[in-house]
Amino acid sequence: MITIKSEREIELMRHAGMLVSKMHQFIKPYIKAGISTYELDQLCEKFILDNDAVPTCKGFEGYPNALCTSINSVVVHGIPHKEDILKDGDIITIDVVIGYKGYQGDAAWTYAVGEVDSDKKYLMEHTEKALLEGLKMVKPGNRIGDISNAVQTYAEEHNLGVVRELCGHGIGKEMHEDPEVPNFGIPNTGPRLKPGMVICIEPMLTFGKRDVYLLDDEWTVVTQDDSPAAHYEHTVLVTEDGYEVLTPRLD
Ligand code: MF3
Ligand code: CO
Repeated sequence: MITIKSEREIELMRHAGMLVSKMHQFIKPYIKAGISTYELDQLCEKFILDNDAVPTCKGFEGYPNALCTSINSVVVHGIPHKEDILKDGDIITIDVVIGYKGYQGDAAWTYAVGEVDSDKKYLMEHTEKALLEGLKMVKPGNRIGDISNAVQTYAEEHNLGVVRELCGHGIGKEMHEDPEVPNFGIPNTGPRLKPGMVICIEPMLTFGKRDVYLLDDEWTVVTQDDSPAAHYEHTVLVTEDGYEVLTPRLD
């Protein structure tokens, strides 16, 4: 069931989304060679708790941490570890869900560690742009397939692989609600957008082939060809005449 949020619920989701944005802004200066993903996780968890909010991922289906930290060929759901130390030239996706008074905000961004090569720069630039292409389709009357197709078309025009095993989603009291928001699809298909719906659009794109596999930890998703992957995600409200990003970039 796709829920329509009330004004009160939207206010709480704005707050949750803004905390997600502020946490990304907070952690950015720490993303440097030498720090471990575990340390990033600890800093963010403290930031979240200090803001009277909840690190929703921690404990979700047994997930152990506040953040997902996905380095290079890890597409999503990388688990923070003390032994995973960032190096110059890495890219890392920080993905977080924060709960505030029972409502969730969710956003992922890929960051460069020091100077990264031109392939990784290209991947990051065009994954973020694919998300923006999806966003442009968000308005009442349009359908989920319009978003999916816009993301896929942009990604494939730029020779990037579209990971199909994972997709975006509705969000509200739960981090994953209806509808599913795939990153590939056909225009004018799927559920119709209405004011008050809130969805997460989150292209996960690869520099090589789109195939992925799951590590034995049952969380970490990695590209089969070891090519780097990027992931950008916003929580987005459907408004009367378009959309409002609830997790705006503050940089
Ligand atoms: N942002 C991620 C998602 O939408 C968060 C899930 S991580 C989990 O899938 F560990 F909590 F599952
Ligand atoms: Co998400």
